Amino acid sequence: MRHYTIEEVKSWDRFYRGNFINSISGFKSVSLIGTVDADNNPNLAVFSNIVHLGADPALIGFINRPREATPHTLANIENTHCYTINHIHEEFVERAHQTSAKYGSGESEFEKTGLTPLWTEDCKAPYVKESKVRYSLELQEIIPLKKNNTFLVVGAIKNIYVPTVAVQTDGFVDLQNVGSLASLGLDGYYKTTLVSRFSYAKPDQQPRHLGS
Ligand SMILES: Cc1cc2nc3c(=O)[nH]c(=O)nc-3n(C[C@H](O)[C@H](O)[C@H](O)COP(=O)(O)O)c2cc1C
Repeated sequence: MRHYTIEEVKSWDRFYRGNFINSISGFKSVSLIGTVDADNNPNLAVFSNIVHLGADPALIGFINRPREATPHTLANIENTHCYTINHIHEEFVERAHQTSAKYGSGESEFEKTGLTPLWTEDCKAPYVKESKVRYSLELQEIIPLKKNNTFLVVGAIKNIYVPTVAVQTDGFVDLQNVGSLASLGLDGYYKTTLVSRFSYAKPDQQPRHLGS
C-alpha cells in the first residue's frame, strides 16, 4: 500500500493525474446522451458521470464538464429541454467511445460513427437503436458547480425501454443480462459479474443472499 498526498498528486503531469483521480471514485455507469439542436440536427456523446438522484420523482443527474470542453450536449438540452440516455454494449463500444471526439457543431456523431438514430414520438431527441436500455428525460434544472465550472444537469425520466427478460419479479433490472457496460477512469470499459444481491439490511440481522 502506497500513501499519496494531494500535494504529490498535484505535482504530476495532468494526463497521469487525470487518469489516477478519475479512477479513484470507482466504477461508474456509462451511456450515450442523444440530443438535438434548434434545427433538429442530432448530437451524440459518451458520458460516465451519470447518477441516480431519486426514484420518486425519478431523477437522473449527470455532470457536464466546463462549457468550452463539452459544449453541444449542454447547449442542446438548454434549448430543447429533452434528451435520451442509452446504455453501451460490447458490440459497439468502439463507436460509442469515438463520440467523445471533438466534432464540430454541424457534424453528427451518428453519421461519423455509424450508430443509428432512433426517432420516436415520445422525445424530440433521438435514441440509439443499437442500445438495449434507453430512456428519455425532461430537463429540471442545471446547477453550476462554482469550484470547477462544471454543471450538474438534473432530468426527470419520461420514457424507458428495457427488454422484459432483464426485468426481475421484484423490479430489479439485470443489466448484466443485457450486457450493459460499466466504465472506469476516462477510457476504461468493463463487463460486469454479479457477486450477490442482499435482502434489505436491518440492525443486528444477517442479510439474506437473494441471488448470485
Ligand atoms: C468514457 C468517457 C466518459 C465521459 N464522460 C463525460 C462526462 O461524464 N461529462 C462530460 O462532460 N464529458 C464526458 N466525456 C467527454 C465527452 O464525451 C466529450 O467532451 C464530447 O466531445 C462531448 O460532446 P458534446 O460537445 O457534443 O457534448 C467522456 C468521455 C469518455 C471517453
